[in-house]
Amino acid sequence: MKESKGQKSVILLLTLLVFFTVNVKSQLTANFYATTCPNLFHVVRKQVQLAVMNEMRMAASLLRLHFHDCFVNGCDGSVLLDGDDSEKSAAPNLNSIRGFDVVDKIKTAVESSCSGVVSCADILAIAARDSISGGPSYRVLVGRRDGTVANRTGANTNLPSPFASLDTVISLFGDQGLNITDVVALQGAHTIGLARCTTFSSRLFNFSGSGAPDSTIDNSLTAALDQNSTDLFDNHYFKNLINNKGILLTDQELHSSDSAKSTTKSIVENYSNNQRLFFKDFINSMINMGNVKPLTGSSGQIRKNCRVINS
Ligand code: HEM
Ligand SMILES: *[C@@H]1O[C@H](CO)[C@@H](O)[C@H](O)[C@H]1NC(C)=O
Ligand SMILES: *[C@@H]1O[C@H](CO)[C@@H](O)[C@H](O)[C@H]1NC(C)=O
Ligand SMILES: *[C@@H]1O[C@H](CO)[C@@H](O)[C@H](O)[C@H]1NC(C)=O
Ligand SMILES: *[C@@H]1O[C@H](CO)[C@@H](O)[C@H](O)[C@H]1NC(C)=O
Ligand SMILES: *[C@@H]1O[C@H](CO)[C@@H](O)[C@H](O)[C@H]1NC(C)=O
Repeated sequence: MKESKGQKSVILLLTLLVFFTVNVKSQLTANFYATTCPNLFHVVRKQVQLAVMNEMRMAASLLRLHFHDCFVNGCDGSVLLDGDDSEKSAAPNLNSIRGFDVVDKIKTAVESSCSGVVSCADILAIAARDSISGGPSYRVLVGRRDGTVANRTGANTNLPSPFASLDTVISLFGDQGLNITDVVALQGAHTIGLARCTTFSSRLFNFSGSGAPDSTIDNSLTAALDQNSTDLFDNHYFKNLINNKGILLTDQELHSSDSAKSTTKSIVENYSNNQRLFFKDFINSMINMGNVKPLTGSSGQIRKNCRVINS
């Protein structure tokens, strides 16, 4: 059968349509709220700036919240939910993640600017982006909706322990669709923020690690994850690893473990010499992490209060 020019272009169009439909990684876009909440980015940035002016560490805490959200049931704001089965009460989070009051403040400011349209999951993604000021900036993708269940078991299984082996870390990131470049680049977030001594003190006594934390240590003692420049988003974290000054076992293993030789070590070395490369990869990996199983379309809901599902 001979095809006319018209038929050919219809076929071409359909082929392109199928190609693009099966290739979209997610439906998140930078301009999702352009008409429904045009001031969104401005409102969030201002609130993050106020919170960080009040307490520098809050930048690190907000960045970490987005990570702990995305690794459990995707980036759906589930980490923010209160309740008996909350992710907040899971081992990696209990007495550890922080910033919930700040998220509430951001949500209130956003709601008063445009009510009922912006998800808590997106607020976390935007706040994380705004928290790395001084570091690289990027267009954050939005359009996520909020989940209706917290998953405490998921938080306990999916979030890596600071005593995990590099192979376990790589495998847990792999479960989220993140590769070895993402593993190294994202852990570069430890260029800011603090860690409680219980998360690394056992290393001082037994370098081979995975020893249980010493329960006699004061839980409130903390150390900077990047001893060189705690509040500055830079590549010193990777310079520290080269100098055996990683704080967590999982940090140092990126450079020093046997498995690192064939996986992460060369990436650490490249980032330690090349901050621009780290920044470029970090942005790419933040977008990859922000794309972990988002709820879109009519799935989930837009929570009115980030701590509870809508009644
Ligand atoms: C193998 C992967 C990771 C492990 C084992 C890990 C573990 C930890 C631990 C144990 C702390 C200290 C918590 C405490 O003192 O209670 C911490 C803090 C932090 N983590 Fe990670 N983390 C990992 C990956 C990431 C990623 C991917 C990000 C973000 C993209 C991130 C961002 C942060 C930040 C910013 C802090 C400081 C938080 C603050 O000062 O409030 N971490 N991490
Ligand atoms: C909780 O997370 C685990 C691990 O990701 C998953 O297998 C399970 O289906 C999740 N449960 C709910 C109720 O979402
Ligand atoms: C990981 O994925 C990124 C794309 O997000 C790609 O550029 C990079 O080469 C991948 N890294 C590895 C080690 O496969
Ligand atoms: C150090 O920890 C490892 C792994 O838990 C253990 O096998 C080893 O016996 C410990 N060494 C000492 C000196 O406690
Ligand atoms: C931080 O690193 C720079 C060079 O990389 C060094 O000159 C400086 O002394 C270090 N500062 C601290 C507090 O370790
Ligand atoms: C590290 O940098 C070198 C030199 O620029 C490059 O050839 C190599 O592919 C890089 N390796 C990784 C794992 O990024």
